[in-house]
Amino acid sequence: MGSTGSGVSGAQAAPTIPRHIAIVMDGNGRWARQQGLPRTEGHREGARRVKEVARTCIELGVQYLTIYAFSKENWKRPRTEVSAIMKLTEYFYRREFGELRDEGVYFVHLGDRMGLPKSVIRVLDNIEKNNSDEKRLILNIAFNYSGRSEIVRAARVLADMAGRGELKPEEITEELFSRHLFTADMPDPDLFIRTAGELRVSNYLLWQIAYTEIWVTDILWPDFTGAVLRDAVRDYQNRERRFGGAPPEGNVSPSGSSIG
Ligand code: FPP
Repeated sequence: MGSTGSGVSGAQAAPTIPRHIAIVMDGNGRWARQQGLPRTEGHREGARRVKEVARTCIELGVQYLTIYAFSKENWKRPRTEVSAIMKLTEYFYRREFGELRDEGVYFVHLGDRMGLPKSVIRVLDNIEKNNSDEKRLILNIAFNYSGRSEIVRAARVLADMAGRGELKPEEITEELFSRHLFTADMPDPDLFIRTAGELRVSNYLLWQIAYTEIWVTDILWPDFTGAVLRDAVRDYQNRERRFGGAPPEGNVSPSGSSIG
């Protein structure tokens, strides 16, 4: 639904626990280099961090976690690295899916299936068929994902409907557009975390992060822990979210609830 970003004009003090956290898991390569290991070992260690972070989200009461595992631009990386990420992803799903599903984690793939190896598509199909009945945490894995192409894809669907006379151009609203993104019916991310110190958005959730709070850390993704996530959430709780509005009069110090 993308409700947080669309149509909200007033200030909102005292943010509590973010409903939706989006993470760019950067720094796997640098971590591997620091350890004197091949880059793929950095990705392997990075994949291991996801479970702890998902569990911390459940403990905190975060409802949606979106992680950026492979962008469309990542196909430009050396063939051996791409193939290692594909294999690791398959392995991640095979090894972690059952356990996390039984803990109430509902998996969603964000991105295009077209272009992915058949073996990865088979794993994604299997997850869809056997997904959790509960939704304690919705874990979106952006894989073969690009924010711009997600927007173009939605525009094409709406243009097609308009072309067939099913929709008038003036009926295209932000709300309707949001419903044609991979994140349809999900709230926009409240908190965007990027590891490894880069100050870039990297074509990630471009529509959805219009008013998302950004938190960047120098920590490399393979060193990221549940405790670091709690630090990020604490920092978020001291923000004042305005969504383009003015600060509430006489209220300059938002008081977020404590996460302990
Ligand atoms: C960014 O670090 C990381 C990636 C592009 C790949 C992330 C993939 C995984 C962790 C494996 C798959 C995981 C799941 C959960 C499906 P980088 O390589 O750009 O690091 P660098 O900037 O230090 O070189």
